[in-house]
Amino acid sequence: MQHADTFGQLLRDTYAQRDTKDISSFSGGLLYAIERDDDYLSLTSSFIYFLTPDKFPPNEKRLLDMAQGRTVELACGAGRMSAYLQEKGMEVIATDVSDGALEICQDRGLNVQPVDFTDPASLIELKEEVEEIDTLLIFGNSLPVIGTQEKLTQFLNTAWEITSDSGRVMGDFNSPVPVRDQLHLDYHQRNRNRGNPIGLIKIRIRYLNMVSDWFDFWLPTVEEFRAAVAETKWKLELIEEPGYYFILSKT
Ligand SMILES: C[S@@+](CC[C@H](N)C(=O)[O-])C[C@H]1O[C@@H](n2cnc3c(N)ncnc32)[C@H](O)[C@@H]1O
Repeated sequence: MQHADTFGQLLRDTYAQRDTKDISSFSGGLLYAIERDDDYLSLTSSFIYFLTPDKFPPNEKRLLDMAQGRTVELACGAGRMSAYLQEKGMEVIATDVSDGALEICQDRGLNVQPVDFTDPASLIELKEEVEEIDTLLIFGNSLPVIGTQEKLTQFLNTAWEITSDSGRVMGDFNSPVPVRDQLHLDYHQRNRNRGNPIGLIKIRIRYLNMVSDWFDFWLPTVEEFRAAVAETKWKLELIEEPGYYFILSKT
């Protein structure tokens, strides 16, 4: 059954079990699948969206602890990172396109805003609502939803416009390069044959009887990421493996 917020429903159902299960552990999560358009299916669990700060990957936690000032989390999912920062006393706004995700964040006591980070108009609207933004966060391999290098540059240019003079963008993305699996290598080759970046994949989410729309997901190589940043005024302050984790700064 086509369901526009399949991912949000997965989060809702997981969150609904929080009083009887440890939803931050594999056994407490719910299984869902990421289907690629070559029929490759990866099964995974929703627990990663409910990780408690003690279970955050160390690089991620280190960057999060560097967030300063008024912070906006893009593509926040169930709000695990925003909740952590808010608990530390920071001013945070959790944003996402999924109604299910935003409902959970609201229930967790977070300030929420619906924002489509791939749409510059949506980011400008956010800026009008919240005024000063010092740190933009985009973690959990959400950045690839942007789809293309050109759109990444456009996103970063808008991010520059909406952040303060000391603004920073912090986040992560998975790169397509380290894979060895022949099915992934074949997909890379299919992309090369079509003149596409190797990490451009078309996927959809399956959960129970629900299936999302197909969407493009572009895993940039580090070189492609650097090239997109080079087209903007941002300075690449840090990029590190595994991850890749990055910080962009204005100064
Ligand atoms: C893989 S989850 C990551 C969630 C969270 N960042 C974390 O690490 O736990 C990706 C999130 O991106 C959101 N998302 C997808 N497309 C988006 C868009 N265009 N704008 C904002 N959020 C989007 C999804 O609803 C989902 O909550």
